[in-house]
Amino acid sequence: MTIFAAAVVDTPGDPFTGNPAGALRQDEALLVRDGVIAARGPLAALRAAHPGEPVTRLDGGLLVPGFVDTHVHYPQLRAIGGLGLPLLDWLDRYALPEECKLADRSYARAVAAEFLDGLVAAGTTSALVFGSHFAPAMDELFAAAGQRGLNITSGLVLSDRELPPDLLHSPEAALADSADLILRWHDHGRLRYAVTPRFSLSASDEMLDACAELLGKGVWFTSHINENVAEIATVAGLFPGSRHYLDTYSQHGLVTPRSVFAHNVHPGDAELALLAECGASVAHCPTSNSALGSGLFPLRRHVEHGVRVALGTDVGAGAGLFLPKEALQAYFMQRLLGPAGLALTPVHLLYLATRAGARVLGLDDRVGDFAVGKDFDAVWLRPADGSTLAVNLRHASDTTDALARIFTLASPADVAGVWVRGVKAGSAAYPGPR
Ligand code: GUN
Ligand code: ZN
Repeated sequence: MTIFAAAVVDTPGDPFTGNPAGALRQDEALLVRDGVIAARGPLAALRAAHPGEPVTRLDGGLLVPGFVDTHVHYPQLRAIGGLGLPLLDWLDRYALPEECKLADRSYARAVAAEFLDGLVAAGTTSALVFGSHFAPAMDELFAAAGQRGLNITSGLVLSDRELPPDLLHSPEAALADSADLILRWHDHGRLRYAVTPRFSLSASDEMLDACAELLGKGVWFTSHINENVAEIATVAGLFPGSRHYLDTYSQHGLVTPRSVFAHNVHPGDAELALLAECGASVAHCPTSNSALGSGLFPLRRHVEHGVRVALGTDVGAGAGLFLPKEALQAYFMQRLLGPAGLALTPVHLLYLATRAGARVLGLDDRVGDFAVGKDFDAVWLRPADGSTLAVNLRHASDTTDALARIFTLASPADVAGVWVRGVKAGSAAYPGPR
């Protein structure tokens, strides 16, 4: 057992439904046994109740729950920074040529390690990962994620039209390859499987039927929706019988409480109502939406309809793997929306980067906050002495103000430690770079 002495901060409440300030919780110490939080409270009380247990002092900064990224593309890790194009041109020019390279298993193995080590370095310990179109590349991702103990939900990306031929499967091959991967990896430790048609633009009705059959195996579902106006018009032309973009999925039974749709920048009210009715969730990816010029996410309309929302980095369209940057960009974009925007507080930002993601991924009974009984997945945000963030933290008036400074100024350089189910990344017990 170890007692962690730190400025422990988490958001067990939902700031979108209650008083934001009331969603925040603070403590002085956590007692961790076998990777699980066994007790929390004042340091003196924990020490008195558990004399002789070692104390790990995390002085300075804040200790927050490991971040939860609900939308990030593993095969695009080496393709960040393709600026200047809208979605469909960006896919053709930057993303898809890179994704073709993952046909080479050793290339995929190297990218998987870089990707997962990048997530951990950014403080992300749970993620819904948009996979590769190649099954061996998925084996590489799952194997490497399992070694590192991360909570990863992912799956083979499926398409049967519109993309480069190397990236296509027939619906029959999609069924067979996905079923194999589900057998090998779903519910394997902290790994889970997600059926992943790229978007209905690149998936025929037959392919979406195959996805529905796979979903019957009790796995997760993810795809893209309503990201870009040209994409939406193309989908409308490809599915003349659909009422709207979400209908292309819902007609196949793919809108469920285990479904996470990325983007949804341009939804109609009927789509928001259907998402809420079905209990499906949305991954908001603000730096990607900014970089591709996709638009300003209508967060208020999602919240008012009762649609669950969390954050995704959407690397490689997004600007890196660091969730606090997404939270800050989400804040900026709500400001830019003027009266239609939702004013986000620092407590909202922490919630969006942690517990909201855990709820969207159905992992909130295990991670996302520091309740007793949950896994100790944690990030210690502690800037180097003399940095502008360190100066600002010294002048923060309270914890909410400290969070504001962190979300505004922090980068992965300020991640001083990451624990994955109680094991410190970079320690002798942890695979990956030291
Ligand atoms: N829609 C379909 N594929 C992609 C992708 O790789 N990135 C983004 N942002 N949107 C997509
Ligand atoms: Zn995406």
